[in-house]
Amino acid sequence: MFSLYRRRFLQQISSLGLALSGNALFSRFLEAQAKPSEGPARVLVDARRKISPLDRNLFGSFLEHLGRAIYEGIYDPDSKLSDAHGFRKDIVDEIRRMGVPIVRYPGGNFVSGYNWLDGVGPKDSRPVQLDKAWNSLNSNQFGTNEFMAWCRAVGTQPLMGLNLGTGTPEQAAALVEYCNVESGTQWSELRRKHGYPDPHKVKHWCLGNEMDGPWQIGHVTAKEYGLKAEDAARQMRYVDPSLQLIACGSSGPSMPTYLEWDREVLEECYDYVDGLSLHRYVGNTKEQTGEDSSKYMAINLTLEKQIAETLAVCDLVRGHKRSPKKLWLSFDEWNVWYRAGSGDAVNGHRKQAQHLLEEIYNLEDALVVGGMVNSLLRNADRVKIACLAQLINVIAPIMTNANGFFRQPIYYPYDWALQYARGSVLNLLVESPTYDVEGMGPVAYLDVAATLGDDGRTTLFLLNRDLAKPRQVEVVWQDKAPARVATASVLTGPDLKAVNGFDAPQRVAPSPLDKVSHASGRTTLELPPRSYSVVQWEA
Ligand code: AHR
Repeated sequence: MFSLYRRRFLQQISSLGLALSGNALFSRFLEAQAKPSEGPARVLVDARRKISPLDRNLFGSFLEHLGRAIYEGIYDPDSKLSDAHGFRKDIVDEIRRMGVPIVRYPGGNFVSGYNWLDGVGPKDSRPVQLDKAWNSLNSNQFGTNEFMAWCRAVGTQPLMGLNLGTGTPEQAAALVEYCNVESGTQWSELRRKHGYPDPHKVKHWCLGNEMDGPWQIGHVTAKEYGLKAEDAARQMRYVDPSLQLIACGSSGPSMPTYLEWDREVLEECYDYVDGLSLHRYVGNTKEQTGEDSSKYMAINLTLEKQIAETLAVCDLVRGHKRSPKKLWLSFDEWNVWYRAGSGDAVNGHRKQAQHLLEEIYNLEDALVVGGMVNSLLRNADRVKIACLAQLINVIAPIMTNANGFFRQPIYYPYDWALQYARGSVLNLLVESPTYDVEGMGPVAYLDVAATLGDDGRTTLFLLNRDLAKPRQVEVVWQDKAPARVATASVLTGPDLKAVNGFDAPQRVAPSPLDKVSHASGRTTLELPPRSYSVVQWEA
């Protein structure tokens, strides 16, 4: 038993290496551990050891009025592939099949200059607006009601973004009234007049977007934003007390105001909100990884550091306020994004539906996204909403053209989370050989997360960070071994830089994970080098 706890301790240290890198004592300890080690890995699974029930909203996504996400992506009335509402049928079918639980809309940076009234009512009287965030045009032919109809068509829930840039708390409350009040008030009657007799019943709302960023329209200080968010939240709750409200936290750890922004905002609005947002985009860049793929494979651990630090601030303010309420986190933008982020890639040149932020993802990005999925799962006790940013065409797993769509490599780990992560997240013990990563100490080759469905199915999500060698894994069932393997798939390949496209849509795609042996309660796997796998067992 002692050695079990010692191993667990070592495992935690290795995954916290980044979080504690500022601590000299700990760094020395980590350095002492830093020698790459060899040998098989073990994953110890005990169904009684749970982190938390899994909120399916952990695998939401995001659609912004940006580039070809809305226009051409999901809404294209002139397309041969669209239905009577102008929705791309192939995309409706795909998102419905994936089961995306919640979709954030309409931004992003876009929302901070958006007047929701421009996007409702008769289509021929909606104005064509200049979207200053992306220097693009918005014909407003797709607005709040079209989004709600699209959500119903694909079977998802809306996560509505509010304009707290140029918008006022009064306008935010008016939108809640427009969406959620049945009838008999100015804004609910307007919705009915627009042809929507039933309220949309939107539960989750983001109080602005990245308000800490100097790039954000209406950017203010933390205190000013905190007061505005508090006022908006109060007015919105007068209209509908059942809302779940998310305040804007820091837009990333590289912000100079990181965490201090969160603290100051929460000191103003803690009592009025339920969650705090955080955002994160990573990349295999000189600054983040030295363009070293083996370091890139470990970058999901920095997400966990960000989550831990943000929660620490939430709980600090909770203490200050002597509040019984514990906030949860909304990781409402996360992804790989580092190529299509400047110049023409972010400039719409005052046209609609330009090719903006059309990042082309490769195999190594997909492995990193798999790692990020694992990190979110491990934090499912406090991260209740998370949105892969974004869904279609813009830094997206799905890319369209006039004739169809293809799936980018990052699609697969996200889709596996949607298909297989169910029930509760398990607290695993993972014993793994490590490798030394500059600035991070020893990092485990194996990164694993697991869920246990209400139907008794256990699923493991396994990242093998070893770029060169396969890794042997023994799964040790500490309480009861499952009956049989139901699914075993792997995403891997010889070329970390391989991508998909309309010409080769399946270049990077899952294949069966062959080397799985499950007999007499003993399970072993061989994970190929540079791979992300999902294995599910039936009880
Ligand atoms: O998702 C793209 C952009 O990234 C969003 O508009 C913004 O919130 C973030 O900076």
